[in-house]
Amino acid sequence: PEVKPKEGFSSRKVFIFAAIGSAVGLGNIWRFPYVAYEGGGGAFIIPYLCALLFAGIPLLYLDYAVGHRFRGSAPLSLRRLHRGAEWLGWWQVLICVVIAIYYAAILAWAAKYTVLSFTKGWGDDPNAYFFGDYLQAAATPGPTFDFVPGILMTMILVWVVTIGVLAMGVQTGIGRTAVVFIPVLVLAFIVLVIQALTLDGSMEGLNALFTPDWGALTHGSVWISAVGQIFFSLSVGFGIMITYASYVDRKTDMTGSGAVVGFSNSGFELLAGIGVFAALGFMAQAAGTEVSEVVTNGIGLAFVAFPTIINEAPGGVVIGVLFFVSLLLAGVTSLISIVEVVIGAVRDKVGISRTAATFVVGVPMGVVSVLMFSTTGGIYVLDTMDAFVNSFGIIAVAAVMMLAITYVFRKLGVLQRHLDARSSIKLRGWWPALVAVVVPLLLIAMLWQELKTKIDTPYEEYPADLLGVFGWGMVVALPILAIGLSLIPWRGTVSLEDPTT
Ligand code: PHE
Ligand code: NA
Repeated sequence: PEVKPKEGFSSRKVFIFAAIGSAVGLGNIWRFPYVAYEGGGGAFIIPYLCALLFAGIPLLYLDYAVGHRFRGSAPLSLRRLHRGAEWLGWWQVLICVVIAIYYAAILAWAAKYTVLSFTKGWGDDPNAYFFGDYLQAAATPGPTFDFVPGILMTMILVWVVTIGVLAMGVQTGIGRTAVVFIPVLVLAFIVLVIQALTLDGSMEGLNALFTPDWGALTHGSVWISAVGQIFFSLSVGFGIMITYASYVDRKTDMTGSGAVVGFSNSGFELLAGIGVFAALGFMAQAAGTEVSEVVTNGIGLAFVAFPTIINEAPGGVVIGVLFFVSLLLAGVTSLISIVEVVIGAVRDKVGISRTAATFVVGVPMGVVSVLMFSTTGGIYVLDTMDAFVNSFGIIAVAAVMMLAITYVFRKLGVLQRHLDARSSIKLRGWWPALVAVVVPLLLIAMLWQELKTKIDTPYEEYPADLLGVFGWGMVVALPILAIGLSLIPWRGTVSLEDPTT
């Protein structure tokens, strides 16, 4: 029996806000618009909705079911599901460790750029400023030990804030932060979109985004990229939703909540697509070229294209501040959710209090993160880890989890009955069919495709040792390390028995 009463969210509403806080992140703002544009523009709605309804939401429900039924961190919930499943939880925890340490660097950049945007402090050449003056990126890709003090200080700040929020606990820290930040984020972003739509050329931008290219639908790669976007964007397969669901009252309707989270996240993606492409339309017009010439995503979009737009647009300072504040708010709530996966796991396994676990986990992770990514080589390591963990890590762990729960541990029926007993949306036959057969097959196809691409062409033409250590090496090390962690005995007071017998 559990000695301490378990922490939790005070209501369904707070849980939904926290889940949206995790889901809405950099992926919505700087990844979705580009993926949609590349994947057929207006025609992308079809693969995207299919991916959401037939892959993303079913997997979200699986995560919810595991956490809500077994009521623990990812390793504890899976351990309670079956003795042999614990390592899957640790695999997810390790993926979160990897993502958290580099995600914090991007947030630090966004914080710095929020301040810079008041004075357009990046000057006339945002590209040279970002890679040269600000990151001081090394000439050859690879890790270095040269620290950049400006980045170091901001990263420490990001970690202090994150650890501070997490130390306040599930309701007061995670829940309250999301309830405050998410409405502010939505408001700020709506004002940004309206402002962007008034710019000259914005309509050309929207045309570029929404004009359907139906031919794109005949390419398998477009369907695969839709699934990849949905998984990353919904934060499924990371252990986050297992962890958060374990903090929800036993009587709560989980499937209805999941639908709200899924559609809110997609709604925000659509909004971001409109805002980003309106701004890119202006950028193309100002440069006298086509929208297709200025389209980029990720780091280049946020830290080079947007500063360029801000330099030239009427009301640029307002656009700049709103844009970088949005990145920061969206990113902080996501970072909190990733680190919480690790804290929850360590707290359960070692049997320590939340406060102790927060510091035992947060401080070493923060130190590693700051040391790795405030160097002149940090950007290359970041880029490599991001590319590999997203294209292999989360897809592989999701596929293995679905197949193992269905065929090895045979718990799909238990999980389905658990959700159906308290939910508004009933799972019936469609959910097991998707989770046990359709989605795993799809994921295996994706992994295969990704493996071929990454073997054929070295990512970004980076040197083999960089890719070998921080790409392939990391991806292979995680599941092995996870098995090791699962062999360590549980200390402390948590029961390893199924809590609902
Ligand atoms: N879902 C987030 C996004 O869309 C990304 C994320 C991934 C957040 C993993 C937390 C964990 O940006
Ligand atoms: Na998202």
